[in-house]
Amino acid sequence: MFRPPRDMSMVCASLPARRASRPPCWSALIAAALLCSATLGGAQQQTGAPAPPPDNKPATYVGSDTCQACHEDIFNAFQKSPHHLVETDKKRGFDTKACESCHGPGSKHADSVSAADIRNPLKLRPAEADKACLTCHLNQPTHVGRITSSHAKNQVACVACHSIHKNGPNGLVARKAVEINQLCTQCHADVWASFQRPYKHRLPEGAMSCVDCHNPHGTFLPRSIQTSRANEPGCFKCHGDKAGPFVFEHPPVRLEGCAACHEPHGSANPRMLTRHQVSLVCLECHSNLTVPTPPTNANLGSTPPAIHDLRSPRFQNCTNCHQKVHGSNVSRDLFK
Ligand code: HEC
Ligand code: HEC
Ligand code: HEC
Ligand code: HEC
Ligand code: HEC
Ligand code: HEC
Ligand code: HEC
Ligand code: HEC
Ligand code: HEC
Ligand code: HEC
Repeated sequence: MFRPPRDMSMVCASLPARRASRPPCWSALIAAALLCSATLGGAQQQTGAPAPPPDNKPATYVGSDTCQACHEDIFNAFQKSPHHLVETDKKRGFDTKACESCHGPGSKHADSVSAADIRNPLKLRPAEADKACLTCHLNQPTHVGRITSSHAKNQVACVACHSIHKNGPNGLVARKAVEINQLCTQCHADVWASFQRPYKHRLPEGAMSCVDCHNPHGTFLPRSIQTSRANEPGCFKCHGDKAGPFVFEHPPVRLEGCAACHEPHGSANPRMLTRHQVSLVCLECHSNLTVPTPPTNANLGSTPPAIHDLRSPRFQNCTNCHQKVHGSNVSRDLFK
């Protein structure tokens, strides 16, 4: 026999998760109510007709204790998980039924013990799985809710990087540099290969990790580059002396970014430069300076009195004279 549900939200399996962190969306609730009353009406009209088969009944919440009976290990481990807060904190809307906050109402599954009757985020399409997480994790200050990241756009779901039921290494959140690097390089082996080059940040030694420079949840900068301070690239967190502001800027530092001259993932060249010789880095942009014809004070060229006689070794190491290549407060020509 079909009994009217105690709570409308229990009927509509897709709705309740939303209640966890947000005020109810009334239009959705009303739409659901209409839908549900339509179903109810249908059921009432059918009096006399054979009762619908029991598995047409929508699943309802049974509480975490019920899950414990068969999933003891997971239940026990869950007591130490940060998500246990969902079990105890009434504000989140899933107290005493935290398991079902991600898995959906479990009554059917508890009866049938069939995998088909319970939601497993790992088996959902990434966008669907992310929706389950973002019902609670949207709009957090940590950028977690940013679904602009290329990971979200490229079908890399939250659960690809966060294993809900694992604790310890590579558990819910990888925190140690070594663990994070392992996680990222599962998919970015080519990037890891760069870090094996002679001049690189010390990731292979475990002294730094990918998230020192990238936020895997996305940022508003290209390539999910971390930000520090007022929306500055994360490099400045550690290389603050390069941040300026300088009286005399070297435009590419700010406009094109550090990667205009450096290979941040590692390089065969000293100082992680993009070229094996400093002058070649500079000449990529400065080769088209006018060749001097007296009396103009032009600079690059091979004909005296050009002050930059590139045939002379003296001029080949540009940074011997232009020492403040990242910007200067005293010299327009970046000498000091
Ligand atoms: C009566 C025992 C029983 C109860 C109660 C029970 N389960 Fe299960 N559960 C099982 C069994 C058995 C399987 C393995 C099914 C299979 O692999 O076909 C399973 C599998 C699962 C899976 C994996 C499904 C998949 O796609 O691989 C999830 C998730 C799950 N249960 C969650 C829950 C939650 C949440 C609860 C509480 C609401 C719960 N279970 C209550 C017996 C139970
Ligand atoms: C925060 C979301 C979330 C909560 C809360 C949660 N689970 Fe899960 N569960 C998942 C995800 C995601 C997976 C897929 C495997 C993974 O990522 O660890 C999963 C997998 C499972 C599986 C399948 C395990 C396997 O090895 O295939 C079972 C069983 C299960 N959960 C039961 C539970 C029980 C019981 C609880 C409550 C004590 C619970 N879950 C709470 C998200 C959650
Ligand atoms: C019902 C609400 C809810 C849902 C759904 C949910 N979470 Fe959480 N999550 C929480 C709460 C509460 C915490 C505890 C930390 C806090 O205070 O915010 C948390 C913490 C976390 C943490 C951080 C733990 C730490 O150590 O900082 C991660 C990672 C996380 N959740 C991932 C996920 C993923 C992935 C999913 C989807 C499979 C998910 N969550 C679904 C409520 C939820
Ligand atoms: C590409 C891997 C990856 C993906 C995809 C990913 N995360 Fe994370 N997440 C991480 C890493 C690594 C950290 C630890 C960051 C740190 O320590 O700075 C983290 C941290 C977190 C935290 C803890 C926040 C904090 O700063 O303490 C939460 C919550 C979280 N993630 C939720 C999510 C949710 C929800 C999604 C899906 C929308 C998601 N993550 C997708 C890798 C990922
Ligand atoms: C499950 C596979 C997977 C894991 C794990 C993973 N990524 Fe990715 N990542 C991708 C895919 C797919 C793309 C998009 C295609 C591409 O650019 O290669 C991507 C793109 C990126 C990009 C380029 C972003 C952009 O906007 O162009 C960065 C940066 C990145 N990942 C960093 C990380 C970091 C840091 C981690 C570890 C916390 C990580 N990834 C873990 C699969 C993964
Ligand atoms: C020292 C800072 C730094 C570290 C550490 C770092 N990256 Fe990057 N990464 C960058 C910068 C800067 C770019 C953008 C380069 C550009 O604009 O050409 C980038 C670009 C990327 C891209 C985009 C495609 C590409 O190859 O250029 C991916 C993917 C990526 N990083 C993944 C990773 C992974 C995975 C790790 C950890 C193993 C990592 N990064 C560590 C700074 C860093
Ligand atoms: C978490 C701190 C940190 C961040 C973030 C960081 N670096 Fe570094 N960087 C270092 C340290 C420490 C060194 C010293 C070299 C070592 O570790 O062996 C270094 C060295 C360098 C060097 C080479 C210096 C030399 O003398 O050979 C360059 C170039 C460099 N970083 C560029 C960058 C760029 C570009 C970024 C951003 C994309 C960046 N760094 C982000 C910590 C950081
Ligand atoms: C126009 C090219 C260019 C750009 C852009 C640039 N660098 Fe450099 N950087 C160099 C050169 C050339 C050297 C080597 C200087 C030398 O040989 O004396 C260097 C050296 C360094 C060093 C090691 C020596 C030192 O002064 O500490 C660090 C660290 C560094 N750069 C970080 C950065 C960071 C961070 C950025 C982005 C904010 C950046 N660079 C942008 C050209 C550049
Ligand atoms: C990615 C392009 C690029 C690279 C690489 C580059 N520069 Fe520049 N540089 C510029 C631009 C653009 C200006 C501004 C030109 C202007 O104002 O007319 C500039 C300005 C300068 C100036 C100041 C010129 C003036 O106005 O007095 C000096 C000196 C200089 N660069 C030296 C170097 C040296 C040395 C290197 C190599 C370490 C280098 N640059 C690498 C683009 C670059
Ligand atoms: C021996 C010292 C010395 C070396 C080495 C040197 N320069 Fe200069 N450079 C100067 C002097 C001096 C000026 C200033 C000329 C002036 O202001 O009239 C200058 C000016 C410049 C300017 C500004 C041009 C303009 O239009 O105002 C650029 C760009 C420049 N140098 C690039 C380079 C590059 C690239 C290299 C390496 C190939 C290099 N310099 C090597 C001494 C040097």
